[in-house]
Amino acid sequence: MPINTPITCYLPDDAATTALGHLLATLLQPGDTVLLGGGIGAGKTHLSRALIQARLNRAEDVPSPTFTLVQTYEADDCEIWHADLYRLSHPNEVLELGLEAAFESGICLIEWPDRLGDLVPKTALSIVLRPKNDGREAVLSGGRTGLLQAIQKALPPHE
Ligand SMILES: Nc1ncnc2c1ncn2[C@@H]1O[C@H](COP(=O)(O)OP(=O)(O)O)[C@@H](O)[C@H]1O
Ligand SMILES: [Mg+2]
Repeated sequence: MPINTPITCYLPDDAATTALGHLLATLLQPGDTVLLGGGIGAGKTHLSRALIQARLNRAEDVPSPTFTLVQTYEADDCEIWHADLYRLSHPNEVLELGLEAAFESGICLIEWPDRLGDLVPKTALSIVLRPKNDGREAVLSGGRTGLLQAIQKALPPHE
């Protein structure tokens, strides 16, 4: 497969979204940002929750950051930032949240990433979720060199 070909996979149910989160938890590194696209109810928070819980490797409540805008978690090797930027109206507010420093050193999961404007990290992995049949279709693109290929390799066949 050419290096930057997006990956499309079908997630038939909640458990499949959880499994994708678990897989990503094993592959993301400090400095990786994931842009989570898709409308309300697409599964952005569900995917983030599964990823965070797997990466923390301990039972931890992962609430939606809808109202707090950002929730942070201490993983073994870095902080995980989970943001929901829906309510932001200007990229300056992103700076106020401290996201720029987090992009450098943490793992950042960003719901409603269009609010970032020009602040989107160049190596961010994009995941867009859309309803399809009774489940969701996920399209993964971008990311640092080698990440998409690593995801493709780790995905179960036929997805
Ligand atoms: N692959 C899937 N198929 C069907 N329903 C799913 C799937 N993944 C997640 N869901 C459901 O979709 C909803 C997603 O909600 P949420 O993650 O809060 O969405 P968002 O953060 O995108 O607004 C949850 O009720 C979850 O159980
Ligand atoms: Mg959400």
